This record gives sequence, C-alpha cells and structure tokens, in this order.
Amino acid sequence: MAKLPNHVGIDFGNHTVKAVELKDVDGESPTLVNFGSQPTPHGVINSSDTDHQRKLADALKEMYSASGIDNKKVVLAIPESAVFTRFLELPGIKDDELQSAVFYQAKEYLPMPFEDVRMSFIKIGFNKDKNAHRVLLVAAPKKIVDIYQNVSDMAGIEPVAIETESIAMGRAMYRATKETQLVMLDFGSETTDMSIMADGYLVFSQSISIGSDALTQAIVNQFNFEYVQAEEYKRNYGLNEDALEGKISQTLSPIMSSILTEVRRGVEFYKSKTLLPAPKKYVLSGDGALLPGLADYISSNLSISAEVANPWSGIKVPDKYAKVIQKSKPSFAVSIGLALKADI
Ligand SMILES: Nc1ncnc2c1ncn2[C@@H]1O[C@H](COP(=O)(O)OP(=O)(O)OP(=O)(O)O)[C@@H](O)[C@H]1O
Ligand SMILES: [Mg+2]
Repeated sequence: MAKLPNHVGIDFGNHTVKAVELKDVDGESPTLVNFGSQPTPHGVINSSDTDHQRKLADALKEMYSASGIDNKKVVLAIPESAVFTRFLELPGIKDDELQSAVFYQAKEYLPMPFEDVRMSFIKIGFNKDKNAHRVLLVAAPKKIVDIYQNVSDMAGIEPVAIETESIAMGRAMYRATKETQLVMLDFGSETTDMSIMADGYLVFSQSISIGSDALTQAIVNQFNFEYVQAEEYKRNYGLNEDALEGKISQTLSPIMSSILTEVRRGVEFYKSKTLLPAPKKYVLSGDGALLPGLADYISSNLSISAEVANPWSGIKVPDKYAKVIQKSKPSFAVSIGLALKADI
C-alpha cells in the first residue's frame, strides 16, 4: 500500500463544499491544521457543463483563500448518490482470483455499462462457514470522476485519491466512536445518505433522495412563508413538539417518515444480503443533523439509540477553532474521513 502525502479532505455537497486539513494522521492524535467551507453555487454538482465546473472551481478557490488552507494535494469524495456499492460474498475463490471474480459478478449487478464505470473493491473479511471472501464492490461512473478531475484542474488542486462519501464517513466515525456496529445517517440538503458498518467494515451504503431542503419546503408550503423564513423556523424549532404547539414538528413529520421508511428498507436489505443483525446504534451527521429534536425523533421511531455525531472526537483542535467547531460538530464528518485517509 502506498502512503498518501499530507492532504486536504474535500466534500462536495449540493449545499456546501467543506474542507479539512489534518496533520499526524498516522499517529495517535491527528491534529487539525485548517478547515473551511463555502456555499455551493446552485446546480453545479455533478454537472458536465464547463461553465458549471468553472463556478465550482471558483468556489473552491474562494474557500482556499478565505480559510488560509494552502496544501494543494487533496482527497475528494464523489457524491454518494452517484456511486454504486454492493456487498458480495464469493465462496471458493482463491486470493489471486478475487479481483477477476468480483469484476465478473459486478457485470451482473451494475446498473450501467461496465465500460462506463471506475470499479474497485474493498476486502471486508472472510466468512469461514462458507469459505467465502466478503467484499464491498464500489463503482463510480467515469463521467463523474472526470468532472471532479476537471474541477480540480481548474481550481489548481491535485487529487491524490478519490473515494466515496460513505467510505470516508465510516473511517471518521469508526475512529471517533470506536464502535464496530453502526448505522450512519448523513443529512444533506438534497439527499440523506445511509451507511452501515459491521465488525468495523463499511458493508452497505445507499443515498435516499430526500434531504433537509425538503423539510424547509414543507414549511414554505404549509405556512406560505418565504424560503429564508421557513429555513429559520426549521433551524429554530425543528422536531421540537413543545415549540409553537408542535406546528413545525407536525409539518416536518411526513417528510421525516418518508426518510425513515427508506432507512427501514435499507436495514431490511442489509439484513437479507449479509444475514447479519442490524446495528442498534445510529450516528447522525451533515448540517441537517443540527435539526432540533432529530436524535430523539429517530431513536423513538426506530427503537434504536441515535445521537448527533462528533467526528472531531480524538482529533486535537487548536483553541482558535474550538468555538466554531463546537457549533458545527456533525458537519465535517465526510471531510474529516477524507483527511484521515492514510494510504491507497
Ligand atoms: N442548524 C440547522 N438545523 C437544521 N438544518 C440545518 C441547519 N443548518 C443547516 N441545515 C440544513 O442542512 C442542509 C445542508 O447540509 P449539508 O451542508 O451537510 O449538505 P450538503 O452536504 O451540501 O448536501 P448533499 O449532501 O445533499 O449534497 C440544508 O438543507 C440546510 O437547510
Ligand atoms: Mg453532504
């Protein structure tokens, strides 16, 4: 395995681009060097339009200059919604045949032509009973990888690795919690990304196409508010039933139910494919996880234990950053995971 140089982790969200730079990632206590975020220009994520790519590159440049990050070597995440992952068990396959066996099976599952994807797989243990390798197949459309390479070129940064948001998330949360069985829910603006860790390995991921912006929109529709005002109500009252006679929480509830229906489906699919029990611990990340009452709502509706993630746990944070980070604990989970990547 090659060791990666010091680098910045960059998470391209539909709402915000976020970056984290750490040092000493190999050691006991990685230390925050710098971090930053910048609003994502509207409609530019995953766009093959050169003007859109330039706008995204400009936002990156702006983030670099505003935050004072100067390391140009980066690890990027491809948005989860653009990636295909699948848990596979391959009985009776020898080590040196594994790659061709995985790629052969992949052809059967891939929702797109084989030649259009960049494929890789991660070994996630061995099932002794079945004498089977367990792997997570990961496929990203070449078109999407090329888009982020172009954006990087335009912004003058150099990707030293590209991976998926869920893999980065798994690395960050395993390190922060030391939990080996975990469901991770990342509440973004347009999607809620779900991933499951078993025995410390990422085994399942899916992107649910309902995000936190849908909650704001529900408030707009219900009360005829301007979007900005609705956003403020969402952030202030969220799922808190005691506030405003529960009117906001009741408005958000149907959207939350739809998200949780998909989460339950994801868990059932995971159980059926892996024959493993579902984890009972959930961690919530993304800026959408700042929604008041979210952890309690999810705990009681799914009968599990949910808490807002703190991916900074175990990372040394200089005093000058402590206050800002306190306010945005769950926001940088993906960027931290990317920054923690030590080898390829
Ligand atoms: N304090 C808050 N309370 C509730 N929701 C919030 C809060 N702050 C931000 N949000 C919501 O979080 C969402 C943005 O989250 P985030 O920045 O993690 O998304 P993203 O990663 O850019 O998007 P995506 O993952 O969908 O590409 C927006 O919908 C925003 O309204
Ligand atoms: Mg996101």
